[in-house]
Amino acid sequence: MAIERTFSMIKPDATKRNLTGKITAKLEEAGLRVVASKRVWMSKAQAEGFYAVHKDRPFFGELVETMTSGPTVVQVLEGENAILKNREVMGATNPANAAEGTIRKEFAVSIGENSVHGSDAPETAAQEIAYWFSGVELVG
Ligand code: CMP
Repeated sequence: MAIERTFSMIKPDATKRNLTGKITAKLEEAGLRVVASKRVWMSKAQAEGFYAVHKDRPFFGELVETMTSGPTVVQVLEGENAILKNREVMGATNPANAAEGTIRKEFAVSIGENSVHGSDAPETAAQEIAYWFSGVELVG
């Protein structure tokens, strides 16, 4: 199995409820290692740039508003099959469809306030990591 890196974000709905530690513990319990982490309050321009792939979707305005409503914790996770593993531990985008034991089942409020984001493929992981971190910030 391949050791991969993926990008993870603990969203404002979760940081506001002081869930950073509980969510990070779930990631670590799944075998993922936090190799970079910082707390950022993203600007409108940063949120629009990060989620540019969704710019034509009807929920884009609400998404940007939600993501700029409080602090976010951006992280790089490393481990075997980290991209898929992170998506498994996050659960479905809509918490109503999330499996028992997943972060979104346990903590998410709604599809818009779904507590975490994670990269969906190697290409997006590389792009999303580079969006928030420089190479020297990934410390193993
Ligand atoms: P995320 O994995 O961060 O990627 C895009 C986000 O848009 C998604 O999680 C949701 O929080 C948010 N979103 C809001 N409404 C919808 C919707 N109807 N379908 C998909 N994503 C939505």
